[in-house]
Amino acid sequence: MKFTDSPVIELPVHDALLSIQQDNGSMHVGTSVWPCSLVLVKFAERWDPVKCAACDNPYADLLNFANKRGIELGAGCGVASMGLYLLGLHDVVVTDIAPVMPALKRNLKRNKPALKKTLKIAQFYWGNEEQIKLLKPPFDFVFATDVVYLEETVAPLVKAMEGLMADDGVVMLSYQLRSPEAHKLFWEMCHDVFDVERIPHEHLHPEYAYEETDIYVFRKKKKGQSS
Ligand SMILES: C[S@@+](CC[C@H](N)C(=O)[O-])C[C@H]1O[C@@H](n2cnc3c(N)ncnc32)[C@H](O)[C@@H]1O
Repeated sequence: MKFTDSPVIELPVHDALLSIQQDNGSMHVGTSVWPCSLVLVKFAERWDPVKCAACDNPYADLLNFANKRGIELGAGCGVASMGLYLLGLHDVVVTDIAPVMPALKRNLKRNKPALKKTLKIAQFYWGNEEQIKLLKPPFDFVFATDVVYLEETVAPLVKAMEGLMADDGVVMLSYQLRSPEAHKLFWEMCHDVFDVERIPHEHLHPEYAYEETDIYVFRKKKKGQSS
């Protein structure tokens, strides 16, 4: 299930190199780097509208991060936030639960030379309405990687996505099936609330595409529209 057991994962993003320290031996899944996070960053790098200005880019609007506000849910070691920051998502809040904060902070600090900035972090438990308010939604871009694995956290996760995103915003989710129960509930709920688009596999980065990993884009259903 883990991408690699190596204590340090390196991820090139254009000319920069992220170096992420993981601890696979800890009690928390958030201290490991999961393949979904790498898949999302390399997909966004592949279709970066800045580098891909002259090419026929189906994701030019989606991945145009200029002046967008972003938030990551369940960031773990922060790979996706750091990668998307390097790709232009400069206003980003990186969130996770308290036990994961030391690993997140350590990796943000470790990558400060590449990022040239310390990214904003916040503790956020998906079901916590008070914390949602403190995060000051709406966000144009809500993203998460490999966060659907416990049935009991599915409803708060979907509510958090819905509550944080702008009406014309998007959720980008890099997904891998972890639990059949969580999977079933998650997709039932998502299809009720969102229009769901799956990125074709051949559009992922060829060196960072795994059979079992998919990227989805969610948009809020228009009022009066049902699933
Ligand atoms: C499998 S890890 C993925 C970490 C990272 N996104 C990655 O892909 O490397 C799942 C993450 O979701 C976070 N998480 C799980 N339940 C949560 C909850 N109820 N509220 C906030 N974060 C949660 C965990 O702390 C963990 O960091």
